[in-house]
Amino acid sequence: MTTPFECVPTWTNMLSLPFSLSWPVVILVLSLIYVIERAISYYKALRSVSFLPGLTFPASSYSIPGSLFPSTEWNPGMIFGWRWRDRFYKDSPMDMASQIGLLNGPPVLYTNSPEVAKQVLGNKAPWDKIKESVQSLSPFGPNVFATMSAEWPRHRKAVSPGFNGRLYSSVWTETKNTYYDCLATEKWENEREFIMPDVTAVTSKFALYLIAKCGFGIGLSWNEDVGERVRGMSLPECFEVTSNSVIILSFLPHWTYSLPIPALRRLYNASNILETIFKGIIDKRRVEGFGNTSEDKDIFSLLLAANELEKGSKGALSDRELVSNVFLLLLAGHETTSKSLAATLGELACNPEVQQHAYDEIMSVIKEGSDPTFDDFEKLPFVQGCFQEGLRMYPSAQLVMRRPVEDTVLQVPSRQGGVVPLSVPLGQVLALDFVGIGYNARVYKDPKSFNPARWLDPATEPLLNFSYGPRVCIGKRFAMVESTGVLALLLRDYKVEPILKDGQTIADWHAAWVENVEATVGFGHKRFPLKFTRRSARAA
Ligand code: HEM
Repeated sequence: MTTPFECVPTWTNMLSLPFSLSWPVVILVLSLIYVIERAISYYKALRSVSFLPGLTFPASSYSIPGSLFPSTEWNPGMIFGWRWRDRFYKDSPMDMASQIGLLNGPPVLYTNSPEVAKQVLGNKAPWDKIKESVQSLSPFGPNVFATMSAEWPRHRKAVSPGFNGRLYSSVWTETKNTYYDCLATEKWENEREFIMPDVTAVTSKFALYLIAKCGFGIGLSWNEDVGERVRGMSLPECFEVTSNSVIILSFLPHWTYSLPIPALRRLYNASNILETIFKGIIDKRRVEGFGNTSEDKDIFSLLLAANELEKGSKGALSDRELVSNVFLLLLAGHETTSKSLAATLGELACNPEVQQHAYDEIMSVIKEGSDPTFDDFEKLPFVQGCFQEGLRMYPSAQLVMRRPVEDTVLQVPSRQGGVVPLSVPLGQVLALDFVGIGYNARVYKDPKSFNPARWLDPATEPLLNFSYGPRVCIGKRFAMVESTGVLALLLRDYKVEPILKDGQTIADWHAAWVENVEATVGFGHKRFPLKFTRRSARAA
């Protein structure tokens, strides 16, 4: 006889299986299906990368776990190219290697060939950006960086007019002003020697202030206490919080910001304030008009003016797109330059003879007792070479990703000499690896030595770190002018040295410093100090 309770389904009888299958058998069968499914997708991944040698991880770098977890022997992480720079391409018969995620993420092809990079990035090449990675830099919507090819031209058309000769002359002037503002505020100007405790933080602040001023007419003081605050936060503070979490901001659904998580609330607040400030600047410029004011020089005025001409047509950018472009320009305009500038200073500190060469060049160009002028920019090729060399060795934009829009074939340099054709199927992810290119000994002789003179040789393969082709970095000259300007001033005034512990050699310091890197929005060094010793009385 059954009781009424025995008829009520319980967890155990609900989970009991029909027929004679037991749970262990089911688990075994499901595991077997999973293993077969993984084996098939592993084979497909190998086929997609033409069975090229490379590395297999549980998750590929183009997956959330693969990029989120730290770079180890088991996980690619954010600094995969850096960590594996000496080993990754070694076993490949060509300048291309593969990375496969056994459990997660699509397979990725990596190339350390500038020739391949040019084929992919060149005009009318059948390659495009990758939608998901583009979205990660668009917390305020589409912008000139974060758009696929079809949408991109109208953004580039609006942004381009600002990048003209007048801009670069104002970049030079503002570099000088910011340099002196920094020295005075930090109370370094009257010191015979001083220690800059966090070089990366100083170059980051420097580059942000410069793009804010030259790009948008936002005059920030090196002394942050002086600046304007909105809802308790300064513009640099809002910008730092927002840009440090730009990927989270781009992907998290809006409702998550109402959760009682202080870090999320702060992020939401900061991005909201930033948007309000940017909208305020747009409105103010509209009211003032885009006539013959002194602010005409900045990128933003010309962007707004160009957009005004498009009004009513499909080419015009919406206000949200304008805000997004402002944010992107501030972000792209400082993270990259500042990290490579910090790396350049680190290398100069370890190479006193290179530093002396740069100093001699600066002193041969500038007039006695005066500051370098914008006309001197072209006369400082060795100083420019120092920054290019810093950028080659420590590429602040580590790589760019592309996907072919149709089945295609690349001509890849082979180890035996010549090129070999490599078929790349539609949709295969390809990383143009600037770390790999910079350290490719076929392309750059003795790639681990800091040798700015290589950039004076016209036979040297031109630097690709600003990309190439129609989507080449629009801020390349901005970054070159700014970095050359600040290096010319700093190296004129100071000798730069590493701070060695007892018994430590420069080579020991350098070896540790080289590995002290991280990737946030850009790739570069974590906090490190340098010592600055005055060379001479600076210009009045
Ligand atoms: C050392 C400094 C810099 C480096 C290494 C760098 C690198 C790059 C690279 C590699 C790209 C191409 C990305 C891709 O196609 O996926 C790019 C694009 C871009 N960069 Fe830079 N950049 C630097 C400085 C700047 C500066 C100073 C600005 C602005 C003032 C800027 C604004 C942009 C913009 C707007 C784009 C998108 C261009 C387009 O797609 O039309 N960059 N940059």
